[in-house]
Amino acid sequence: MVMHSSRNGPTGSQPRYLASTAVLLVEVIKLLASLTLASNDMCKSNPRRSPAEIAALVYRSVFAHDCWKLVIPAALYTLQNSLVYVAISNLDAVTFQVTYQLKILTTVLFSIALLGRKISSRQWMSLILLTFGVALVQVSGPISTEDWRERLSSLMQGEIPVSSGFKGLMAVIAASLTSGLTCVYFEKLVKDSLDSVSLWTRNVQLSFFSLFPALFIGVLWQDGASIAQNGFFAGYGPIVWLTIALQALGGLVVAVCIAYADNVAKNFAASLSIVVCYAASAILFRTPLMLHSTGGAAVVLLAMYLYTSRPGPRVMLLPMSKER
Ligand code: C5P
Repeated sequence: MVMHSSRNGPTGSQPRYLASTAVLLVEVIKLLASLTLASNDMCKSNPRRSPAEIAALVYRSVFAHDCWKLVIPAALYTLQNSLVYVAISNLDAVTFQVTYQLKILTTVLFSIALLGRKISSRQWMSLILLTFGVALVQVSGPISTEDWRERLSSLMQGEIPVSSGFKGLMAVIAASLTSGLTCVYFEKLVKDSLDSVSLWTRNVQLSFFSLFPALFIGVLWQDGASIAQNGFFAGYGPIVWLTIALQALGGLVVAVCIAYADNVAKNFAASLSIVVCYAASAILFRTPLMLHSTGGAAVVLLAMYLYTSRPGPRVMLLPMSKER
């Protein structure tokens, strides 16, 4: 929502900020944060090390022989983050949020293909319910039967009822596919070497390699002319900075989720957070409860129960990744 209002809110006489500059800044912030955390890990393992020794250790672990493996997710995540900006600039917030839930299913498909994860038919049902439930919670505002009829009939006639809808829809589908593939690839890479390479070192590698496409393709090649004319920070304001901060923090949290739980759990957590937000805004801000959103929240909770419980002995949520 913050990102949507940063892209589509009034800009006054200023030009709209360039998404490529925001993508680059997010990577710079994540790189600095991950560097700090990686150095902190080195310091904790031997508190008597000098800052120069820590810097040398971090440098050696970041540029180790297998660091090139992070080039692939770095390129794909940069592409995904740019696609999200394209989608959000061309779709309304709800259509974007609802269609982006496709990533729940693409993640599972890539987990099966790349990690050999086994998904029972009960879990498949819960994942489809989850996608449907989250989409339902996010359809905000009372939608009349007339609204639905209008949306459906324009879809049937091949029209997408949003601004530059087709471009946005293609971008969100591509972002969902990229999200599934990249998150699963990153999970495999981190988990295969978690004993020898820390998560924060992997994250420094990821952000470091992400800087190149973000800088050379996004900032210089795509938007170089506009930046030369209006400046790098044209259109920046508090809401843009908040978007950047949330994106950076979100990225770091996603990394922790992927490393210590798994991608499917990450998507469940993201879906649960949407339900918690919905409930919290009803309690705190007295936002009226909608039948379809409340139904969607119930469907999300049911999906979580179905996914984590098994017929037979009970299984806890956290050891899920190891168990599978
Ligand atoms: O939508 P999805 O959950 O796939 O988004 C993942 C986000 O997390 C992306 O914006 C990606 O850049 C970020 N990420 C990160 N560091 C990681 C893994 C993901 O910043 N190690």
